[in-house]
Amino acid sequence: MGGKTKIARTVKDLRKFVGKWRKDGASIALVPTMGALHPGHLSLVKLAAKKADRVVVSIFVNPTQFAPHEDLARYPRDEAGDVAKLHDAGCDLVWAPAVEEMYPEGFSTSVKPGSAAAPLEGEFRPHHFAGVATVCCKLFSQVTPDVAIFGEKDFQQLAVLRQMVRDLNLPLKLIGAPTMREKDGLALSSRNAYLSANERAIAPALQAAIAELASEVANGVDIKSAIEAANRKVRNAGFTKIDYIAVADAETLKPAETLGERPLRVLAAAWLGKTRLIDNIAV
Ligand code: PAF
Repeated sequence: MGGKTKIARTVKDLRKFVGKWRKDGASIALVPTMGALHPGHLSLVKLAAKKADRVVVSIFVNPTQFAPHEDLARYPRDEAGDVAKLHDAGCDLVWAPAVEEMYPEGFSTSVKPGSAAAPLEGEFRPHHFAGVATVCCKLFSQVTPDVAIFGEKDFQQLAVLRQMVRDLNLPLKLIGAPTMREKDGLALSSRNAYLSANERAIAPALQAAIAELASEVANGVDIKSAIEAANRKVRNAGFTKIDYIAVADAETLKPAETLGERPLRVLAAAWLGKTRLIDNIAV
């Protein structure tokens, strides 16, 4: 790698780096992030470095994927800390545009995501995936990566983006990477920083409940009653609200009523006070 990790803040600057790498015949991997980087993100960067000659990590807290009542204003930001971590993880270039660079005056085009965006998160955060799909489409055309790496922690996001890449014939490959977890099972997430000590102690119960649900479903139990039992466990553990605990087709995200040939996924979103946690696990 060598030298200091560079930062591009304008599309023009970014294109200079990418253009030179392309001219040299280097392949490029992109890891899109919203910053507040934890070891889960860094594992994506390390994977990216194995998949391509050059690694670009974008840091952009994308306003269009937050609803007005959501946590955009309080979303954790630490660019200097992030850049230092990225340097050590093997990132060549940080792409950190300002909101005005990403969405200049007059910006008005957006991607309408496909059917995978409709259920689950789509029901609770109706405009979220249009914001994600649009910004990722922009990131892909700005960086022109050969591969882009996404964490499976946001499993439905990955499914929506896979559908977009396939449907729009975008010339890159998406790679999903497994969720990193704390010792007690809690999935690493920038939003864990919001949890109080008490909430942090309760948080792993979500993962425990969906892991149990996944193994019950794999053993052929009735899916509907197993979901009800998982809801009871999560509520009894102290979660204040459950948006959903679902068993879905791993590609289409449509609810699964029975165990069949196709891969299934258990997905959940639940609240601890003001903090919304999501998690998922393979059946
Ligand atoms: O997963 C995230 O951090 C964001 O949704 C992404 C993919 C960077 C788009 O803003």
